[in-house]
Amino acid sequence: MAHVPSPAPDAPGDFEQRLAAAGVRGFWSMLADYEMFEPDNPESGAVWTYRDYRELAHRALGEIPIEKADRRNLFFSNPGLPGSGTITQRLLGGVQAVNPGEVQSVHRHTAAATRVLLEGTGAFTTVNGGKCRLEYGDVVINPNGLWHESGNDGDLPVLWMDVLDLPFTKMLNANFFANDYAERVDSVMTPRTNQTVTGMTDRSAIAYGTAGGVRPSPVRAGNGHGSVQLLYKYASARTLLERLRGEAGSEHEGIAVEYYDPATGGPALRTLDVHLQLLRAGERTLPARQTAGTVYCCLEGAGRTVIDGRTFVWGERDVFVVPGWSWRRHESDAGDAVLCAVSDAPALRRLGLLVREREDAVGRVTREQD
Ligand SMILES: [Fe+2]
Repeated sequence: MAHVPSPAPDAPGDFEQRLAAAGVRGFWSMLADYEMFEPDNPESGAVWTYRDYRELAHRALGEIPIEKADRRNLFFSNPGLPGSGTITQRLLGGVQAVNPGEVQSVHRHTAAATRVLLEGTGAFTTVNGGKCRLEYGDVVINPNGLWHESGNDGDLPVLWMDVLDLPFTKMLNANFFANDYAERVDSVMTPRTNQTVTGMTDRSAIAYGTAGGVRPSPVRAGNGHGSVQLLYKYASARTLLERLRGEAGSEHEGIAVEYYDPATGGPALRTLDVHLQLLRAGERTLPARQTAGTVYCCLEGAGRTVIDGRTFVWGERDVFVVPGWSWRRHESDAGDAVLCAVSDAPALRRLGLLVREREDAVGRVTREQD
């Protein structure tokens, strides 16, 4: 048997260099990046006050022509992700200002989006030809893949909060954007910058948004990416919160209701859910955390949220973020408070990565995963 000489011993560090030259990395040098006992999230809690962002948004109305911006968004940078323009690593969250008479070009994308009206009248979004008008606190969704455009039919500027999972779809290298919209005119596909509105204005809110456990028959088929109800009226949800206020509610959420898909019973979007929650005067919730991130806007009242031990004070129309796996508890002031919460829990649930922990009144923590 031929003798195979053993290789000369490497000088210290040589082996690492040989691995690197071969395009290989030993897992022992990567352990700290991957073998963590729980998520190590660089994001932090933060609040953006209406007073502060409103001034910037109204300045943008004068300084940034719509032809330049198309969508005049001001996206909030999480303090743990400075300069990123992302409110969490997976979510964009911010406000958009629209002058009277302005309308975006129609477009569609793989990211999903929600919008909550915070100021003004005349805001609208047209989704797949259906026009949805927004009043204060109303929510409209843009399921991924559906053509949509927004604008302002009113006499004064409007301001709304946008939450999109665009950084998440980008992270997955699954971002597609299209603006080559066309409509059939005399059997010829003709390019258009805006959709022709069809059907009844606010149809989905009228058809599905009334109480009483009744729905149109048949329920219109969606595209599978989001709810068949595209517009959710604040007034209807607020009425339901009021009807439920006598219940004990959740120790961690107060009285909470969810904007759901009447066709499936599932969340409003495949990747995002939207809840409205009432914190009754002086109510204090118990600590909870989840791997999903949540962007809140306060629609009524005032209070504070303690996020990983830091207190963030909020009032009407303020926006705040609770990062994934950060402990949080809410407290309302002496009056009722209403929060609208958008989270990416459905995306994580679909991946089997939605982990939640809740602390009870005596400090015991329970964990569940779904
Ligand atoms: Fe969009």
